[in-house]
Amino acid sequence: MTEDIADGLKARAARAFEERFGTAPGALAFAPGRVNLLGEHTDYNGGYVLPMPLALGTAIAIGPGGRPGRIRLASESFEDEEDRCIEDRASGAWSDYVLGCVAAAARDIAAETGLRAMIASNLPVGAGLSSSAAIEVCTLRALHGLKGKPLDPVEAALEARRVENHFVGMPCGIMDQFVVSVGRAGRALFLDTRRLTHREVALPGRYRVAVIHSGVSHKLTEDGYAARVAECNAACAALGVEFLGDLGPADLDRVGGLDSPLAERARHVITENQRVLKAVHALSSGDSSGFARLMIESHASQRDDYAVSVPEVDALVNGALDLGAAGARLTGGGFGGSVVAMVAANRAVEFCKGIEAAFPQARLLSLS
Ligand code: GLA
Repeated sequence: MTEDIADGLKARAARAFEERFGTAPGALAFAPGRVNLLGEHTDYNGGYVLPMPLALGTAIAIGPGGRPGRIRLASESFEDEEDRCIEDRASGAWSDYVLGCVAAAARDIAAETGLRAMIASNLPVGAGLSSSAAIEVCTLRALHGLKGKPLDPVEAALEARRVENHFVGMPCGIMDQFVVSVGRAGRALFLDTRRLTHREVALPGRYRVAVIHSGVSHKLTEDGYAARVAECNAACAALGVEFLGDLGPADLDRVGGLDSPLAERARHVITENQRVLKAVHALSSGDSSGFARLMIESHASQRDDYAVSVPEVDALVNGALDLGAAGARLTGGGFGGSVVAMVAANRAVEFCKGIEAAFPQARLLSLS
C-alpha cells in the first residue's frame, strides 16, 4: 500500500518533469511525512520521542540541465517555477529546502551542469506532519541516486537537520528527519534523540491512528518555536545542565524554583520525557488505555506548560475525546497544525463522520 503511494508519487513527479523539461529525470526518490504519537518538544532537549512515518509523502524527480550554477524547481502544488542560484541564501520560499540540500550534497553537479527538479506530494504543508523533512530527505536520496552513491539513512537524517538548522534557519531537533529517513510507515519509532538509539514499537491492533488538521496552518519559522528553544536554553543555563533531557522527576522541585515561564517549559520537557518512557512500557505490555491517558496528559502539558496549542486545536482534542477517541493530542511543533487521536478500530468510521460534522474547518488527513 505504502509502496504503491510512493511509486505513484514518483511516477507523477517523473511525468511532470518530462512534460516541463522535455527530458527524463536522472533520479527519483520519495520520503514520507510523519505523525508524532508522543514526546513533543523533547528532541532539541536531548529527550525521547515516539513518531511514526505516514503513508503520505513527497517525491522528487531531479536531473542535470539548464544553466550551470542554477537550479530550476517546479512543483505540482505551486504554479510558479523557481530559478535559484546555488550561491543563494534561504529566502523563505519552499525551494529553500531543495536548494539547501543541493548546496550541501551536490554543489559540484549544480555548478557544472545546473539542475532541474520537480516535486509531487500528497503531504499538506503547515499541518505539522513534517513536509519539510520529507522534501529534504527525498532530495538527499535523489541527489545520491544521481551521483550513484549509497546514502546511509542516519547520515541522511543528520544532513537534513543541518540543512534545516543552518540553511533554512529553523532550530529544530532531529525527530522529523530521523523518523522520515529511518522509520517504516505505520510503525512507531522510539528514539533517544541524544544517543540516536532507536527501536520500533508495535501499536495496539484494536486501534487506529487518526490525524486531523485543525484548519489552522502553522509556520514554525515565524511563530514561537524559536522562542521555545531559547527558553529551554535559558532554563538549562539557570539549572547548570547541558540538556533539559538530563533532568528527571527528582528535579521537578528545583525546576519549580525557576522564574515563569522557564519553570513551566522545563516541567513540560521533564514530564513529557517520562510520558514517552511510560508509553513505550504501556505499549509493550498491551496497556492501550494507559497509552491513551498519556496522550491526553501530553496535550494538557503542551497547552498549559509549554503554551504551544491554540483554541481551535484544544477544541478539536476535546471534540475527539467526546466523540469516543481513547486519546488525543496536538502533534508536531504546534501553534496550529494537527491533532493525533487513537480510536477503536470498530468505531473509526463513525468517529470520522462525527469529526466532519462537528468541525467543518477540520480535515481528516490520515487513518492508519
Ligand atoms: C517540529 C520540529 C521537531 C520537533 C517538533 C516538536 O516538528 O521540526 O524537531 O521539535 O516540532 O516536538
